[in-house]
Amino acid sequence: MKVKQYSCVLLLYFLTLTTLSSLVASQTCKNSCGQIPIKYPFGTGLGCGDPRFQQYVTCNQEKLTLTTHTGCYPVTNIEYSSQVIHISDPSMSTCACTQTSKGFGLDWDAPFSFHDDTVFTLLDCSTTSSPIYRTNGAYDVDSNTTVIPQCDKTGAPICSFLYSCRAISMLNLPISTCCVYTPVDLGPSFEMDLQKLQCTSYSGFYSFNGQESNPENWKYGIALKYKFNVYNDYPSSCANCERSNGVCGYGGAYNTFVCNCPGGLNTTSDCFFRSPYNHSPRLLPRHTAGNFLIFSLAYFMVRVLF
Ligand SMILES: *[C@@H]1O[C@H](CO)[C@@H](O)[C@H](O)[C@H]1NC(C)=O
Ligand SMILES: *[C@@H]1O[C@H](CO)[C@@H](O)[C@H](O)[C@H]1NC(C)=O
Repeated sequence: MKVKQYSCVLLLYFLTLTTLSSLVASQTCKNSCGQIPIKYPFGTGLGCGDPRFQQYVTCNQEKLTLTTHTGCYPVTNIEYSSQVIHISDPSMSTCACTQTSKGFGLDWDAPFSFHDDTVFTLLDCSTTSSPIYRTNGAYDVDSNTTVIPQCDKTGAPICSFLYSCRAISMLNLPISTCCVYTPVDLGPSFEMDLQKLQCTSYSGFYSFNGQESNPENWKYGIALKYKFNVYNDYPSSCANCERSNGVCGYGGAYNTFVCNCPGGLNTTSDCFFRSPYNHSPRLLPRHTAGNFLIFSLAYFMVRVLF
């Protein structure tokens, strides 16, 4: 009888231990955020992905968000093969709805630049005070410089199509207050400050979706490009890590590469548990400990039952 009680206490003890250790040993870095698969250079939290991207793209409550000094923008998808990230701006106007917006800007030090497919149209700009209406190519007396045109005249059909949308036609403004915005220097960082441009709204899209004349089906949002580094190489250590179901991360004082494995363990190589120098497989201490627990449990079960 006494032996049995003793065994039960031990059994409980071991059960608690295994539960605790499985809680602690969950993978810190996730390979998805909501519906969006997460791969390098993106990450789901601190220490995940690439440190240059971590501060701009974060996963909160299964929602992937890009943050810039102008606001927070839901990431709608990431095309890893072409290195393009698509975001939406809840404050922008679309064919379905017009609303006032402050504009959109990328931080100067953010590792993103605008994708050429992104088209911005300024809507509802003041014909009297907006700088986009200073005569294109003319001399501006105020600044004593030549004014560089900011609206693309060849983009006029885009404005016509947008004005065929009920929501946009309801702005009740002449179509001339629509401008396909193409400043000469879109640059890596770029500011579309609607207050400065004296426009109340803008629309952005990155695809006609095969139907240029049907603005209802255009893909509204902003497409951004990103690069892994100056040579745009996918780090091979990270590729190996992802191939072994790990998630790339970083850590230590110098933000060096870390492979976060499904069991929660971090390695400097991959989750096949080969050391970078020695390619023979080795058993990990955690596994040994796990096996020991199972053996102990089995042993006590046997003692209790028989
Ligand atoms: C593993 O790496 C991740 C990401 O850098 C970190 O958050 C976590 O604390 C590390 N886990 C362990 C057990 O060292
Ligand atoms: C504008 O340019 C002219 C000729 O270069 C110069 O004489 C004049 O001082 C300039 N005015 C201002 C306001 O900078």
